[in-house]
Amino acid sequence: MSQQALWSGRFEDKMDDSTLSFTSSLDVDVMLSFYDVMGSLAHVRMLKKCEIIPSDDADRIIEGLKTIAAEMENGEFKMDESLEDIHTNVEFRLTDMIGPAGGKLHTGRSRNDQVATDFRMYLRDMTLETVKNIDLLIDSLITIAKDNGDTVMPGFTHMQHAQPVTLAQHMLAHAFKLSRDAQRFLDAFERLNLCPLGSAALAGTTYPIDREMTARSLGFKGPTFNSMDSVSDRDFVTELAFCASLTSIHLSSMSEELILWSSQEFGFIEMADKYTTGSSIMPQKKNPDIAELIRGRSGAINGSLITMLMMIKGLPLSYNRDLQEDKKPVMESLDSLNSCLTMMSKVISTMKVRSDVMLSKVTSGFINATDLADYLVTKGVPFREAHGIVGASVRYCIDNGKKLDDLSVEEFNKFSPLITDDVYQFIDVRNCVERRSSFGGTSSASTDYQLMIAIQEYMAREDIVRQESDLIESCWDELLN
Ligand code: ARG
Repeated sequence: MSQQALWSGRFEDKMDDSTLSFTSSLDVDVMLSFYDVMGSLAHVRMLKKCEIIPSDDADRIIEGLKTIAAEMENGEFKMDESLEDIHTNVEFRLTDMIGPAGGKLHTGRSRNDQVATDFRMYLRDMTLETVKNIDLLIDSLITIAKDNGDTVMPGFTHMQHAQPVTLAQHMLAHAFKLSRDAQRFLDAFERLNLCPLGSAALAGTTYPIDREMTARSLGFKGPTFNSMDSVSDRDFVTELAFCASLTSIHLSSMSEELILWSSQEFGFIEMADKYTTGSSIMPQKKNPDIAELIRGRSGAINGSLITMLMMIKGLPLSYNRDLQEDKKPVMESLDSLNSCLTMMSKVISTMKVRSDVMLSKVTSGFINATDLADYLVTKGVPFREAHGIVGASVRYCIDNGKKLDDLSVEEFNKFSPLITDDVYQFIDVRNCVERRSSFGGTSSASTDYQLMIAIQEYMAREDIVRQESDLIESCWDELLN
């Protein structure tokens, strides 16, 4: 039977096949199947408890829904293409199985609140999954940081050698960006974790339903507050699209660095063979394709955000069919982000760090120039004046093919009589790093502290993810019992 035949009262003519295929959401709804049945189980248990439908009908519906859940798990649930979405498919299969009592399931709800509820449940799981994967990557960065507290490398601004830093400081910089990303996903989780079910088509329902009960039994914090907002709100989708976008932008920047670092010009790292590709024509090549694809895929991920923003722009309240278009972009964006995160974590945790090359680059230029100025400041020279003295010394070095460390005290004294033997210790790059012990700086004491904070943040999230996942799992167990 077609969907229209069931809701046939209003129509004289049959729906054209092209209308059906144009309006169908079945292709993406497959991802919502499980959640749809869970939502229905929570709803019917509530209808039973509130005595809105007879108890024995409710029991038959519950048994039927459990069978459907099992069919879905075994891959036996057949979608009827002539029914436009998952909600209708489940209801039809139910009625098919238990007879007209199945028709009582849809009391006090609508597909509008149903789809909003299903999608929130789906995105809750995806959000927790994403946080786990971000943390997986953070863990890889932390491991490199732990092993490289004394690996000195050039720190860059404007892509020019700026000041010496450690690789630990550099890796932790990325870790903190990602930590905020993971936190942002959890913040969004808080807002999306409210249940729209029972808002019905848009205005609520005349039946004495208990929305608190359905919300709790689906693992939500509680019900949403306004029925019209509930069926029209896709902020939670858009917000996650943004969270994914910013995370992907961070991954893209990291990729760019890894690509540069693995080039012959830098040589800072070597990526593991199993996470690189060869060239079909140039036998010597080892290409950082994974990093390039991660950088490239950030495009589509950010496209999803724009899709969402444009979709909700100018929509009048409340539900409009436009909203059906919310699923594919964000499902794809989160899928893509998660695969980028896991691949990036593999690339990072298996790459070889060339600390010797990093050190040779850091000692080959004038990266300790700020430190020479700081040295003069310790001798009482105002910083601005010291800056000028060092600038002139650098100029001299360039003209004579020398580094600052190569200058003799006599040469130094051409620029300032205050420079003595102790200058060499002072401008040694390792000492330069260690002296940057200000809060958040690159000294080893500072990076040890940063490591502690990054690990704490990571572990706190791990607890939240575990608690929320356990709560959701226990809800499913209870509903299927
Ligand atoms: N497939 C629809 C969606 O994703 C489900 C809700 C349909 N509601 C309706 N009134 N046609 O939005």
